[in-house]
Amino acid sequence: MTTALPARATLPGRFVVLGVAGGIAAYKAVEVCRQLVESGAHVAPVLTDAAQRFVGPLTFSALASEPARVDLFDAPEPIPHTTLGRRADLVVVAPATATLLAKYAAGIGDDLLSATLLATRAPVLLAPAMHTEMWEHPAVRANVDELTERGVHFVGPTAGALAGRDEGPGRLADPDLIVDAAGRVLAEGHDLAGVRVLVTAGGTREPIDPVRFVGNRSSGKMGHAVADAAARRGAQVTLVTTTARPAAPAVARVAVETAEEMADAVLDRFADSDVVVMAAAVADFRPKVAATDKLKKHDGVPELVLEATPDILAALGQRRRDQILVGFAAETNELHEHAAAKLAAKHLDFVVANDVSEPDAGFEVDTNRAVLLDSDGSIEELPLLPKTVLAGLVLDRIRDRLTERRPQERDQ
Ligand code: PMT
Repeated sequence: MTTALPARATLPGRFVVLGVAGGIAAYKAVEVCRQLVESGAHVAPVLTDAAQRFVGPLTFSALASEPARVDLFDAPEPIPHTTLGRRADLVVVAPATATLLAKYAAGIGDDLLSATLLATRAPVLLAPAMHTEMWEHPAVRANVDELTERGVHFVGPTAGALAGRDEGPGRLADPDLIVDAAGRVLAEGHDLAGVRVLVTAGGTREPIDPVRFVGNRSSGKMGHAVADAAARRGAQVTLVTTTARPAAPAVARVAVETAEEMADAVLDRFADSDVVVMAAAVADFRPKVAATDKLKKHDGVPELVLEATPDILAALGQRRRDQILVGFAAETNELHEHAAAKLAAKHLDFVVANDVSEPDAGFEVDTNRAVLLDSDGSIEELPLLPKTVLAGLVLDRIRDRLTERRPQERDQ
């Protein structure tokens, strides 16, 4: 599949950590920061001590999306390098000095920027800048080779005027080039660009009275992982969620509480969706009548009469046109049989079946073990995985389905 995405089109809503190391070219990082913000990225600058000798954090704070951070130990959050590393869609370092390259290659994290580089799984783009002699030194070459082998991206340096009236290779790539390269790195794996994905997450709460409800243990982690990963891959994501859990900046959240509210939110948006992933644990039953005032203990134990909630996924299965429909199945026994029955009854493309009685899988935990049952009859048993990884695999399957359905677009 060939996609001619303009590189900058991949920046809106993406969280970019902009690292600035201590070289004279640090002043040009101000322009990189400005252009990244202008391209729609959320930019969090991190300056080393040496960088601050060339340019002040105030300048970056004024231009970026949040205040510049300069210290591993004196940041607004307790563990800033992991917070930044996990939030990042991309880390850009401009300028990347010889010292920064050496620390990163050696795995040293003794300041906020080098620690963030070690604490991230996001792609990293380095824009080196230094004198020619340094750039050509065998130690620097070895570090660049090592980092390249590890999949780190580089832009520049170019040849041209250097500090001290020197000239030669070692000049920081132009800010334009750096921002374009950032977009290009993010475009890799941007395989859901433009796809409208509707995801549900969390457990619904069915009121008994104004303070009590019938609920379940769903934390929303699974659904949020799907929504965040889809957004990172370029999809236009709407997340209908019952939880207050944060979502990626590019995700449009719709807050709901009950099965009825979730049904309304999902059905309203179904016609404008290409893909629906129902990861929410929707209550199957709700109290037939919810008391308007708090039930009093002295009035005796109330008798709860339950009724069925709307089956959202079954309704989508009836109405579907060319949407891709993905359900989850939470089972405690006969996983395959129950999941296969849901796949057929709800007219799904595939179902992600999880045994929620297994430790480390299902509700609340960060990991899950799933079996993917496809309407084409194939079954894929997956190992215990982080929910973030399982989310990626579910999205890979959705992407393959979309590609099969749109051969004419694929071949363009
Ligand atoms: O949120 P976490 O703590 O991360 O936990 C993740 C999870 C265990 C909730 C998730 O992995 C999961 O299994 N979600 C589906 C839970 C569920 O309701 O399963 P079910 O087998 O009861 O329902 C089958 C499918 O029909 C589901 O996609 C469900 O969203 C949907 N459904 C169910 C009932 C209903 N009234 N309407 C529905 O649309």
